[in-house]
Amino acid sequence: MKIVFFGPNGSGKGTQGAVVEERYQIPHIETGIIFRKNISKGTELGEKAKAYIERGELVPDEITIPMVLERLKEADCSNGWLLDGFPRNLIQAVRLDEALRREGAGVDLLIEIILEREIAKERIMGRRICVNDNNHPNNINIEAIKPNGKRCRICGGDLKTRDDDQDEAAIDQRHDIYYDTRNGTLAAIQYFKDLSDSSGIPAIVELDGKRSIQEVTRELASRLEKLEFLNSA
Ligand code: AP5
Repeated sequence: MKIVFFGPNGSGKGTQGAVVEERYQIPHIETGIIFRKNISKGTELGEKAKAYIERGELVPDEITIPMVLERLKEADCSNGWLLDGFPRNLIQAVRLDEALRREGAGVDLLIEIILEREIAKERIMGRRICVNDNNHPNNINIEAIKPNGKRCRICGGDLKTRDDDQDEAAIDQRHDIYYDTRNGTLAAIQYFKDLSDSSGIPAIVELDGKRSIQEVTRELASRLEKLEFLNSA
């Protein structure tokens, strides 16, 4: 099963991606996490990516596209993958589709979380990350998942913020790229929706991101349940 997961920055892709990963037992590949790990290890890739990420700009395609296409060739991807954070513009979408077609494959499923920009921004600024587990939701702006004082509400671990989450200009820049219907992420989504219109593949699942984490999870699980024909992909 090959899945691309879309949603504006702060819409809950990381949160819900963990649900999809668990269901299909496929690797959840998050480009942002790959870059951040490289930055903290001080690798050459991290050095190249750092300034772009701090400004909320895309890391250039000539770095990002080969990095992702190589990652998809690794052994753990043999039964499929869940891509989160890629493709992020039209060129990345076309290159991914071309690479898959060369192998006689294609994206099976597209999941899109739909959320207004202002709500996404508030969630990003309130996000606190648990040092023990990225998937422990903590957010100082959302009553249901407020941290326990300064500690993780799930495990009591220390909390940290991401530098690019506290810089409003960088957040706006990330959202400008996402909501760009000509060349940005919405254009990438439309590319796959056009393929779906003409061939029925990929299947499309759209989710209302305004609802609570549990409601979005329930809706996602029930929509995936109905896509039984994909379960053997
Ligand atoms: P990346 O790491 O992908 O960051 P992002 O785009 O900002 O996405 P997020 O991880 O912040 O958003 P999310 O939707 O996963 O939100 P979350 O689940 O945490 O990318 C970082 C940078 O790397 C980019 O800016 C770019 O520079 C570079 N990069 C990455 N990919 C690239 C590419 N392909 N090409 C070039 N450059 C690339 O949720 C947010 C918050 O809301 C959390 O606190 C969560 O608990 C809460 N929440 C989630 N769902 C709900 C809900 N339903 N109700 C209430 N609260 C909720």
